[in-house]
Amino acid sequence: MATTKKVLITGGAGFIGSHVVRLFVTKYPEYEVYNMDALTYAGNLENLKDIEGQSNYHFVKGDISDEAAMQQLFQEIMPDAVLHLAAESHVDRSIKDPMAFIRTNVMGTVNLLNAAKELWKDDMDSHLFYHISTDEVYGSLDDGGYFLEDTSYDPKSPYSASKASSDHFVRAYHNTYGLPIVISNCSNNYGPNHFPEKLIPLCINNIKHNKPLPIYGKGENVRDWLYVVDHARAIDTIFHQGKVGDTYNIGGFNEWKNIDIVRLLCQVMDRKLDRSEGTSEKLITFVTDRAGHDLRYAINAHKLMNELGWKPSLQFEEGIEKTVAWYLSNEEWLENVTSGNYQKYYEGQYG
Ligand code: NAD
Ligand code: DAU
Repeated sequence: MATTKKVLITGGAGFIGSHVVRLFVTKYPEYEVYNMDALTYAGNLENLKDIEGQSNYHFVKGDISDEAAMQQLFQEIMPDAVLHLAAESHVDRSIKDPMAFIRTNVMGTVNLLNAAKELWKDDMDSHLFYHISTDEVYGSLDDGGYFLEDTSYDPKSPYSASKASSDHFVRAYHNTYGLPIVISNCSNNYGPNHFPEKLIPLCINNIKHNKPLPIYGKGENVRDWLYVVDHARAIDTIFHQGKVGDTYNIGGFNEWKNIDIVRLLCQVMDRKLDRSEGTSEKLITFVTDRAGHDLRYAINAHKLMNELGWKPSLQFEEGIEKTVAWYLSNEEWLENVTSGNYQKYYEGQYG
């Protein structure tokens, strides 16, 4: 099949990136898909075992914070478009080590922007730099209201500050150099291949092993959850139909308090593990709150739904069933990612 486009996806070995890579490789056999990832603790090529043999899939190991390596890689691959997902993504880690987030999320993004600008300088218009970002750049909401695309940025954690900074650089390159860009800001994702440092997979793993479920503060914080495959579908839609220079919010209109999610997980796990009702809830343990913990995120995704016709495909309860089932039938994946360094991280974070 003749190649129509070379698409470079950064961070494709991570949680969301692997679902995006799979969607692009299988849905668009006419695209050559290059997955470029540094394979940090969060990157895992096991996530892509099912598609690694496809002829239009290529893996390249690379660190976006290495300026020279990015320039060289762009000149070698000559991508027509970039889908940028590589990032340090965990808020708790950003509280302990902000510099790693500045290196990858800010400087790494600028390295990619520079490499794209250099490669595309004679013909900007036929290209696209798509930057994948987060709702956390908008800060924290009280009980009412939603984040809109024009909500002022007000990041509160080192992670969200680094993502906000990267968003600003992406827009600045569009405004200053005419780089064709698009940005999307998504709410909390969940689903298969989610690294078990994040709330949902951490609780699934701990319930399985009868370990305490650490709930920060009172568990009253609210997040808006979206199944990861629906985020990948939204990225596909925006990549192909989004307006250059625009921003699109992505979310599920699906707000949950942390404590309610954990209770739901306990019920689903009790049923699937044949434990008597209420067994896993006994593992719930309230622990010291996250520093500067954002109270509530809630995305208004109407622009994406009305202008580009995307909508989530799954109800939350169905998505949680699928997610728990995936973790229970992928024990080896879970064992591999929770051995070694994970134990050290867990000790440091939860004591
Ligand atoms: P993740 O931590 O699971 O994966 C990140 C990937 O980036 C990993 O494969 C890692 O190896 C790679 N990476 C990290 N540093 C790198 C570097 N210097 N060079 C090259 N590769 C590097 O993250 P995720 O949850 O899949 O998030 C992907 C993107 O989506 C991030 O930009 C994140 O900010 C954004 N996002 C995430 C969520 C969410 O709920 N997880 C929601 C909205 C937006
Ligand atoms: O909103 C999008 C963001 O969602 C993404 O940009 C981030 O990359 C992603 O990690 C996620 O950030 P959160 O901080 O919301 O996700 P996390 O799973 O770490 O936490 C979800 C909520 O659960 C949050 O209120 C903190 C709480 N929590 C988390 C952990 C790990 C606990 O109560 N206990 C825990 O052990």
